Amino acid sequence: MQAFAQRWIYAALIYFCVAVTLGVVMGASGDHSLFPVHAHLNLLGWVSLTLIGVIYHFFPQAGASRIATVQFWVHNVALVVMMGALTASLKGNPSMGPVLGISSSLMLLTILAFTGNVMVRRA
Ligand code: HEM
Ligand code: HEM
Repeated sequence: MQAFAQRWIYAALIYFCVAVTLGVVMGASGDHSLFPVHAHLNLLGWVSLTLIGVIYHFFPQAGASRIATVQFWVHNVALVVMMGALTASLKGNPSMGPVLGISSSLMLLTILAFTGNVMVRRA
């Protein structure tokens, strides 16, 4: 597997460790209030990044493109900001709406960029 695909997998592994640690802490403490953070760290972090890395492995022209590099960084920054804001919001901070709106819209944009990238550079 080439480096442009591997970076997705390495980032995914970090989210996997963090998300499962949070899952174990929630289970042990009985406080499940952060379960949406746990769920989305797993699903937008571990699962989505792994799938994107594997898909780029099979679509190397798309994976090696500049748009994939931009998409990688925007996805990661948006996810970290989104999870931080979601944690603050779930812990009672009422002012996180705009941050969640902007970060989740950025996430949507990266997913649309990914979809377009794979469709256009299919070879
Ligand atoms: C040792 C590993 C894990 C532990 C201890 C754990 C623990 C938990 C706990 C305590 C909850 C809250 C349940 C509730 O209050 O309803 C939860 C929810 C959730 N977990 Fe995990 N989890 C683990 C791994 C994973 C993994 C690997 C994934 C996905 C790839 C995942 C996806 C989810 C999802 C989607 C929810 C939300 C379910 C719902 O909507 O009720 N978890 N987990
Ligand atoms: C920009 C991306 C995303 C946004 C803004 C988003 C937003 C949301 C929202 C607002 C909820 C309802 C939460 C609640 O009622 O407490 C939710 C729940 C859920 N989403 Fe997402 N989601 C995104 C991506 C994904 C992806 C990619 C997956 C799966 C691969 C996913 C899986 C789930 C699951 C399993 C639930 C139920 C568990 C929970 O409430 O945390 N989401 N999501």
